[in-house]
Amino acid sequence: MTVDLACREAITRPAEYFGRALDDGPVQWSDAQHAWLALSHAEVEAGFRDGELLSAERSGVFARAARGRSEAFTRAVDMLSAWMNFRDPPAHTRLRGPVKGAFTPRAVAAFEARVQAIVDAAIDRFADGGVVDLNESFAHPVPALVIAAILGADEGDRERFQGWSDDIGRLVFAMEPGKVDEAPVNRATAEFVSFFGRLIERERAEPSGSVLSAIVHSDIGELSEMELVGACTLILFGGHETTTTLLTNAFSILLERPDLVDWLRRHPEGTATAVEEFMRVAGPARSMPRKVAKTHERGGQLLREGQNIFLAIVSANHDPAVFTDPGEIDLTRDPNPHLGFGWGLHFCLGANLARLEATTALRTLLARFPRFEPAGPVAEVRASAMGFGRRPVLARLR
Ligand code: HEM
Repeated sequence: MTVDLACREAITRPAEYFGRALDDGPVQWSDAQHAWLALSHAEVEAGFRDGELLSAERSGVFARAARGRSEAFTRAVDMLSAWMNFRDPPAHTRLRGPVKGAFTPRAVAAFEARVQAIVDAAIDRFADGGVVDLNESFAHPVPALVIAAILGADEGDRERFQGWSDDIGRLVFAMEPGKVDEAPVNRATAEFVSFFGRLIERERAEPSGSVLSAIVHSDIGELSEMELVGACTLILFGGHETTTTLLTNAFSILLERPDLVDWLRRHPEGTATAVEEFMRVAGPARSMPRKVAKTHERGGQLLREGQNIFLAIVSANHDPAVFTDPGEIDLTRDPNPHLGFGWGLHFCLGANLARLEATTALRTLLARFPRFEPAGPVAEVRASAMGFGRRPVLARLR
């Protein structure tokens, strides 16, 4: 069989699909993705760790896209080149240091009360229950408000962020960055630079104690003005849709599985462990791309310089060599070494924040509404090789 990360069965029945695929080897060529796929848990983990042979660098692609374009577009490209996830060491190490220093477990724990307040206020808006789209009314606004808070922005700025993020997304997700329409990208970059420039200035003059404060005043290393704006936009991008999708996916599962809702109600202290299982079976990131930096052998295959490889998180998370009954949702699974936040060099800096948000949101929603039922059929999964989610998520709450 030729593996296809985006085929129907890989999306709807990953345990069966990847269980069979793994019989043909831990690394395989996919005609569908026109790339190598690392499939086993061991190979995906090793791939995430190996920044030397598998490169995440995109700054060259962006620089080529900027050739012959306007000055404004060069600024957009500079901003994206400051995104650490698109860089290899040593640039990656320099860019990651100050941001990592701001996301320590202690710093995130200090956010607990704030996250709880944001979750409570979001639920207050549909406190009377009835039919609620949990994606639109809850899973979407909560992470956006949390990100605004950690960056020290006002709640009202959330709507503006959204539009700019969508416009920058045209460049971030472009298959051919050289062909994107530059006007909206340039406009959004100018807005971001001026908006975050003001916040950064304010933090320099009067540190507020926010995550942005910690980045600006880091003693691990100093970032340039554009690198600071890049860090802010990356946090906005990396932390919003991903957390929204995790929540949406968890709610979709729960609406179809009253037995799991029951269990969570009886064991609210088990919610954090349950979140890890939602990350394993329905984590927002299905795979992460890398470029082969040097010809080498991996998982019994010869990978040639310049070829693409996807680290298939979704397959690793259903590898029967690591997870007993990988097709079963076991909310008490512990340990749960899923790779939903990546691993190693680029391991997600917001993992603890996302865990805190998801745990608080799930626990609070179930505590506030004794009835939690589907209002009609749960939406179909929409997926690509890299991500997936379901929406709307219509629940009847009381
Ligand atoms: C459920 C929510 C989330 C998921 C599934 C997720 C997933 C990931 C994954 C898979 C990576 C690794 C990328 C790679 O190896 O190329 C990553 C990196 C990253 N994430 Fe997250 N993320 C989430 C939430 C967040 C949040 C809330 C933030 C910030 C507030 C954040 C910030 C970052 C950053 C800055 C990186 C880049 C790290 C690096 O390249 O060194 N993420 N995330």
